[in-house]
Amino acid sequence: MRDALGREIDYLRVSVTDRCNLRCRYCMPHGATLVSHADILRYEELLRLCRIAASLGVTKFKVTGGEPLARRDCVEFMGQLKRLPGVEQVTLTTNGLLLGEQVDALRDAGVDGVNVSLDTLEDACYAQITGAKSGDSRRVFAAAQACAEAGIPVKLNAVLLPETLSGVVSLVEAANTLPADVRFIERMPIGPAGATAQVTVIEALCRLRAHWGDLAPTRERRGNGPAHYYRSAALRARIGVIDAVSHGFCSACNRIRLTSTGELKPCLCYEDGTDLRQILRSGATDGALREAMAACIAQKPPHHCFGEEAAATERRGMNEIGG
Ligand code: 5AD
Ligand code: SF4
Repeated sequence: MRDALGREIDYLRVSVTDRCNLRCRYCMPHGATLVSHADILRYEELLRLCRIAASLGVTKFKVTGGEPLARRDCVEFMGQLKRLPGVEQVTLTTNGLLLGEQVDALRDAGVDGVNVSLDTLEDACYAQITGAKSGDSRRVFAAAQACAEAGIPVKLNAVLLPETLSGVVSLVEAANTLPADVRFIERMPIGPAGATAQVTVIEALCRLRAHWGDLAPTRERRGNGPAHYYRSAALRARIGVIDAVSHGFCSACNRIRLTSTGELKPCLCYEDGTDLRQILRSGATDGALREAMAACIAQKPPHHCFGEEAAATERRGMNEIGG
């Protein structure tokens, strides 16, 4: 359906858990509070909400977290989601640590793509950012490779941080062997890490241009999101940039989010949302849930407010909201 500004909302990010087996500094630092298990939607509740969202014109679903693969039976859930009427595309965002053992199951479930979060291949730096063990960055890359070999389209997502800038070229070189696009993402001032240094996509592009002199923007569309892509004759893969903070792309925003506790959020930046869990668990009909969702979409704010930190009301970490 269209929102009040005429934007077609056809993409829902579904956070299936706020739990994660990593502790990325910008998302879910050590000591982050967890929501209670009883407050997290059961798979049948999630499927019901997704079915209703599909009836409102949502055709693409991204399963995210926290770490979605840390929740039991996540891949089975994705297979069921894929089979709902009106659902065209189901993709996964994962940190990749548990991905290697699920590749065949994901392919069999009909999953359309996997985004693997990998900020850097420099193992010590990766461990420092995420709290992972030594060797884990290689393990994540190997899982991405296994996905690509199984025919599942893979992208790498790298959040830009001061300490990862020196590794952007080697990350793209490695990804190009799969081949997988790499998307460099400006860290959004959401949740706990709002105060650390901001790196813009311009800085990453400077490093990349110094290596691939012919790097040029391409109008190709390679996903459902807000990334702009660049190409070089020397690369099979593309380089994407997501400049939410320095530019913003709200006028073309196509998405809404369902948190792990069943809150429908029309925009990442604000804490406002519709508590679908409460409506669902009070015995509401599909019609009432559909109406609540439609009202939430209709009220989607025109744009985010990352330029003015004081205006951002969202204080929860990305792990809870579904990054
Ligand atoms: N800013 C930008 N991206 C973030 N992610 C988590 N927290 C943030 C943030 N504050 C990313 C993860 C992952 C995706 C789900 O969201 O690295 O790639
Ligand atoms: Fe976990 Fe992803 Fe958040 Fe890192 S960014 S803590 S991997 S949910």
